[in-house]
Formats: sequence, structure tokens, C-alpha cells
Amino acid sequence: MRLPVAVDQNPDPNVFETTLRAGFADLEVYPGTTTRMWTYNGSLPGPLIRTKASQRLIVHFENQLEEASTVHWHGIRLPNAMDGVPGHSQPATEPGQSFRYEFETTDPALFWYHPHVNSATQVDNGLYGPLLVDDPQQPFLGDELVLVLSDSSVDETGVSPPDFTGDLGLLFGREGNLLLVNGKFQPRIHARSGLLQRWRIVNTARTRYYQLAMAGHSFRRIGGDGGLMEYPVDAERIVLAPAERADVLIVPRGAPGSEVAVRWVAFDRGFGSTVNRPDENLFYVRFAENPQEPPEALPATSRVIEALNTGGASEVRLELMQVSAPQQPLELGINGVPASRATPLEAKPGETQIWTIVNHPDMDFAHPFHLHGFFFQPLDDQGLPARPLEWKDTLNVAVMGTRRFAVRFDERPGTWMFHCHILDHADVGMMGMVNVGEASGAHGHQ
Ligand code: C2O
Ligand code: CU
Repeated sequence: MRLPVAVDQNPDPNVFETTLRAGFADLEVYPGTTTRMWTYNGSLPGPLIRTKASQRLIVHFENQLEEASTVHWHGIRLPNAMDGVPGHSQPATEPGQSFRYEFETTDPALFWYHPHVNSATQVDNGLYGPLLVDDPQQPFLGDELVLVLSDSSVDETGVSPPDFTGDLGLLFGREGNLLLVNGKFQPRIHARSGLLQRWRIVNTARTRYYQLAMAGHSFRRIGGDGGLMEYPVDAERIVLAPAERADVLIVPRGAPGSEVAVRWVAFDRGFGSTVNRPDENLFYVRFAENPQEPPEALPATSRVIEALNTGGASEVRLELMQVSAPQQPLELGINGVPASRATPLEAKPGETQIWTIVNHPDMDFAHPFHLHGFFFQPLDDQGLPARPLEWKDTLNVAVMGTRRFAVRFDERPGTWMFHCHILDHADVGMMGMVNVGEASGAHGHQ
């Protein structure tokens, strides 16, 4: 269950330099068969890139696929030209070509990377990987494990069956039937009963929501998308919408030699998503033969986060909806238009805005809303900062739901995307952009 790890080729301790090669590899994804996957460096998921806060990251991306691609660094506060969005930050990298990414990994948190071209297909085929930014200041909390959750449409014949679900499938969002943890089906992790563990979890699936449960155990969630939260929250279950991350403490307990499953439990994301969906075992925690230790206490963590000052902030309202008529090919969009006809929002560097994301009442599905390049702070129903305070880049908007957040744009001009992270929804138009600063000058000049 160990993740492949990217190797730093640069002797300078302030720089982490590595290569990501997108190309085909024959891997065992469905147990007992081999599938030609699209991979970074031949592995599924792509290698764990592990940097330190404020370290410079240089990635030489080489495209050996048969179609264009890019690398988007999900959640990282990087310059627009490094954001991996064709047409706004760079031209798409064609087969046989390469692109050099360079930026600072400022914030200690778990991030991930994936293509921003033909995303639903490229991600389903295997192109995703974790990026963990360590905080050298932070005390050791417990044995740390990075868990990349994904699903795959590969079946027992070793291929992805043709998709006959059409527009309805796109509207529901296509879920793979094979649940993978670090690229493996139902893997095992080894633990000593009573010893504290820290799980860094990312949902890289193109549509699937994860709700995690472990019999007899509860979780302490200490952080999310943008690092530690103000204070931890204890919960029986951990929910991750597509692209969200969770930083979780847990003390697994079990008899010597026994096993406990961590289960996937259906989460209500709208129309029929929990009907006839039994729990599935995601992975197993297997206990060593050692006698049980008395369980360690869960430590408390804390972080000082200042609530953004929203006095005088301008308001933005975005409504997520279907824009095509019932008999037309499916088109989704925001405020009545698909991405292709959207007018960018405007923001000035240093400006704070309040965004209200409304799920249109006719829309029977939840949407994980993601903003590129900038963290935001969720607000509660009264418009006050939601506690515990935390920085996020992806937020689930339930059926009939409305979510609000405060965001402060800084001096990183350019056109930044926002979209639903159900990649099927993004690909059929549920996407828009915001121009920060002198974006008109930056547009198309890269
Ligand atoms: Cu992870 Cu534009 O997305
Ligand atoms: Cu959506």
C-alpha cells in the first residue's frame, strides 16, 4: 500500500526538482488482470511529491500520451502561469512535448495534481497523484499515512466497458465500480493496537463521494484542504467530496492478529445516490501480534486563523444549473451559461469578496465547488465565519443548498477557473472564471 515517491534531483535544499512523465503502463488494477493505464511515471497513483513549506518545486512534465494534457496543482497558491489551465495559463502540452512547472509550495497541507484537459477521462484513466507539503515546525503527531482514494471503471476483463449511460450518466456523474486506495483494491495497512496514526486523505475520484466509517472507532479531524483547522472536530464519519482533503487522527484498536475494515458508506449527494448502495470495504487495518497497548490519547491541535474582514466586501452570486433544454444534449453551467459562453468575473488584487453558491432548485445533484489559486473561508448561514475556521478550496453544495464563503484575492493576476469538481459536470460546462488584476494583458501571452 506504499505510495511511489518522487525523487528530488536537485542538491539545493531549498529546491525540490523532479520529473513527471505521463504515459501508458500495464498495471494490475482489477485483481488478477492487467490494464493499460494512463500514468505518471508508470505508477497508480502518480508519485507522492513531498516538499517542505516554502520550498521551491520544479517539475519537468513530459507528455508521452496520445493526446494533449497539462498538470494542474489543485489548491496550491501559485502564479497563474503555473496553474495548468490551457488557454489561460499555458498552451496544452501536446504528445511528445514537455512543460516546466516552477513555484513555491507555501502552505503546509495535502494537495494533489491532475490534468486540466479532458479531465474526466484522463483522471479515470489514472492521471492523479498526491503532493504533500510538510511543516518542519510541526511536532510529530503519529505514524503518518497518505491515502489517495479513487475509483476506476476497469472491470474483471481488465478494460473499462463502453459507457452507454449517455447524458443521464453525465448528469449523475460517472462512478467507477472498483474502489482503490493508493491504486490498490482493498489493501491492508499494518498497525499496533493503541498507537496513534495520522491519516492524510485526498479524494481524487472524478465523481464519487467518500464517507468513511470504521466499526468501534471515531476520528478526530484536525485539518482539511488548506492545512490545520482552528481546532479539531471529533466525528464518527469522515466525508470527502471530490477533490477535498482531510487530515485525521485515529487510534486503531483490535485484538492481536485481527483486522478491522474501513468502510465506504454511501453519502447522499442527490438523486438516488444512496438507494441500494451497501457499504463496501475500502481497506483493512491489520493488527500486529504484539499484546495490546493501552490506547494513546488523541492530542489536541490548534492553529491561529484570522477571520477575513468582510466589511465592504462585494458580493458574488453563482447559481449552479442545467442550461440545456430537456431534449437537447446535456449542458450544465453557472448563472444560465456554460463555460464556453461565460463572462469572467472581476476582482482586484487585495480585494475581499463574498461568494454565494446556490444549487438551482431544479438541480437534483450536489456539486463540490472548487476555486483555483485561492483559499477561501466558509461562512455559516448567518454569514459569520464558520467555526472551526479553516482554509478551503473545495466546498460541497447540497441539493437545494446554498453555501457562502469569503475570499481575498492577492497579487497574482490572471484568469482563474472555478468549477464543479464532479469532472463530468465540469466537462459539460459547469465552470467559470474570475479575472484578477490585469488579466486582459496576461490572456494568451504565455
Ligand atoms: Cu482539481 Cu480545476 O481542478
Ligand atoms: Cu456538479
